[in-house]
Amino acid sequence: MKIYDARWAKKAEDKDNFRTLIPEPEQALLERSKAKKILDLGSGDGKTLVFLASKGYGLTGIDYSEVGVAKTNASLNENKLKARVVLADIYEPLPFKDGEFDAVISYQVINHDTIEKIRCLLHEVNRVLKKGGLFSVKVADASTYAFTYYDGLCYDEYGSIFQLIAPRTFLPIAGWERGVIHYEFNKEILTKELADAGFVLLDARHIECHLLANFEKR
Ligand SMILES: C[S@@+](CC[C@H](N)C(=O)[O-])C[C@H]1O[C@@H](n2cnc3c(N)ncnc32)[C@H](O)[C@@H]1O
Repeated sequence: MKIYDARWAKKAEDKDNFRTLIPEPEQALLERSKAKKILDLGSGDGKTLVFLASKGYGLTGIDYSEVGVAKTNASLNENKLKARVVLADIYEPLPFKDGEFDAVISYQVINHDTIEKIRCLLHEVNRVLKKGGLFSVKVADASTYAFTYYDGLCYDEYGSIFQLIAPRTFLPIAGWERGVIHYEFNKEILTKELADAGFVLLDARHIECHLLANFEKR
């Protein structure tokens, strides 16, 4: 059972800490870009996917949480909406065609593995996007929150205890995200990694402890 299955099985009020619907500036960006086909990478329980499908976009979601995918499909049915939701690991080659999407959104997802795996994923995102397509991405930015270090372990202000397993790479050994790797980006690193994968930065801003950045495929 994936750790996020337990999270997506919870009631809305218990699972919405730290996440928001796609923010308004990104909704406007999608509208301006005239995107039709959008991939939600790590679509979770479908909160944003269902919202965007209700606006008339063609949505595809991908997530490895069975509960998340089931909740997304249930919510689509409830709202009489259609979208494709794929149960798969995003760090494997993405099961989509080259240039299949006008935009890819990914909120609080891509930083959940080692930097080597993340680099492969970013190249895959580039492959499935059309030239000039938007990649809107939100990641945790550790520079915005407080850690204390004790006895080789690292404690954050939200009750998680981490082991450092590689540079900027933390493995929570306690707390609700136990076992889910966190690679800690900051704006410079995210911009460089995305540039190496063929993207240009449009804009970036912090939202609480996260960094939200919009890129365009060159
Ligand atoms: C913090 S949640 C964010 C969900 C959604 N994007 C949102 O903003 O509500 C992270 C999501 O990434 C998914 N995820 C993490 N690692 C994954 C992987 N290797 N393959 C597919 N999905 C993954 C989890 O199952 C979870 O649904």
